[in-house]
Amino acid sequence: MDKKTLIDGLNHDLAGELQAIVMYIHYAAAATGVERLELAEFFEREIQDELRHALFLANKITALGGTPTDEPLPVPKAKNNQEMIKNVLDAEVRTIAAYSERVKQAEEIGDLGLSNDLQDIISDETRHKEEAEKLLRS
Ligand SMILES: [Fe+2]
Ligand SMILES: [Fe+2]
Repeated sequence: MDKKTLIDGLNHDLAGELQAIVMYIHYAAAATGVERLELAEFFEREIQDELRHALFLANKITALGGTPTDEPLPVPKAKNNQEMIKNVLDAEVRTIAAYSERVKQAEEIGDLGLSNDLQDIISDETRHKEEAEKLLRS
């Protein structure tokens, strides 16, 4: 594991955060029906966390000598509210797995500060995942 591998990994994570921001904005506007307002509020609330994560990653990538990506991963299409929440859940699960891998890589190169910051982000993503699971349960 070298620094370049870590930077590439963090850029992958950043593309995921940019995707999450676009996805939450799009889904908040596109939610329909009686639960529209609640769902829009739920999506809008999470944007703040994802924005913070994206800013952190972009700054860290620069600090490590890399160039932060400006390209989000593609946002999955959703035909209805249920599909939106499912897509959100899938994205959060993938994100948590990616950050868990990144924590290991950060520790391998001895950047314990990064490891600690990434674990805070994992806590946020875990909360997002659990909220999406609860929405799907109702
Ligand atoms: Fe995030
Ligand atoms: Fe999230």
